[in-house]
Amino acid sequence: MADETSSTGADDTEHYFSADPSVPFKRAPVRAEVWGHDLSLTSGSGVFAQGRLDVGTAILFRETDPPSTARRVLDLGCGYGVIGLAIAKAVPEAVVTAVDVNERAVLLAGDNAAALGVSARYTAATPDQVPQEATYDEIWSNPPIRIGKPALHALLLRWLPRLAPGGRAVMVVGKNLGADSLQRWLGEQGWPTERVGGAKGFRVLETRRAAVDLAHGAT
Ligand SMILES: C[S@@+](CC[C@H](N)C(=O)[O-])C[C@H]1O[C@@H](n2cnc3c(N)ncnc32)[C@H](O)[C@@H]1O
Repeated sequence: MADETSSTGADDTEHYFSADPSVPFKRAPVRAEVWGHDLSLTSGSGVFAQGRLDVGTAILFRETDPPSTARRVLDLGCGYGVIGLAIAKAVPEAVVTAVDVNERAVLLAGDNAAALGVSARYTAATPDQVPQEATYDEIWSNPPIRIGKPALHALLLRWLPRLAPGGRAVMVVGKNLGADSLQRWLGEQGWPTERVGGAKGFRVLETRRAAVDLAHGAT
C-alpha cells in the first residue's frame, strides 16, 4: 500500500489504525476524481491518508472499473471512506458497508456519505457492529499491511468467507509490502488470486470465490 510508512499525524506509539486515537482531531479536505465522479471528502488526523488520496488507493481506482453487477459491497479498512464512497457514487444499485477499527475513520466515512448524498446506501461501522450473517458480492480493500502478517491473514480469513459464491475481492498491495507473497498465501488458503493490474510498485489483486464453493462450505 502506498504509504504505510509515511506520516499519518500519529507518533510511534500510536498508529492510524488505533481504535480510538487520542491525537487532537483535525479535519482536512480531500478531493478526488474517481471513475468520472468528483468526490469532495473530509479526512482527519489519526486516520490513514490525512489530507490526501493514498497513492495505492489511487492506483486501485486507475487500474479497475467500478463493480458492474455487485449489489452488496464491503469496503474493508475504509479509512475516511474513499473506496466505498467511490463505489456508492459510481454504482447507484450498490449498497455499501464500510468497516474500520478506527472509530474516527468510521465517523468520517459516515459524514462523507451524508455529504455525498449516499447515506441511504452506505453504512460505516466497526467490524463487530456488522451482523455476522451479512454477505457481500464484492469486497474492496487497500488492506492494513502494517498490522503485521498474522493479523492481516486473520483479517482476510475473517472477511473473505463473507463473499457470496461467485463473488470477488479486489485489493491493492505494495509489491515491497508483500503483494506477491500475499497472493501466493491466498491461493494456498483456497482463495485463488490473480494480479489484474498494477503500477508504481503496487499490485491490484483479484480473489474469486467459486460459484459452487465446496472448499469454503457454501454453494
Ligand atoms: C491502508 S488503510 C486504507 C484506508 C482507506 N481505505 C484508503 O484507501 O484510504 C487501511 C485501513 O484499515 C484499517 N484497519 C486496520 N486494522 C483493521 C481491522 N482489523 N479491521 C478493519 N479495518 C482495519 C485501518 O484503520 C486503516 O484505516
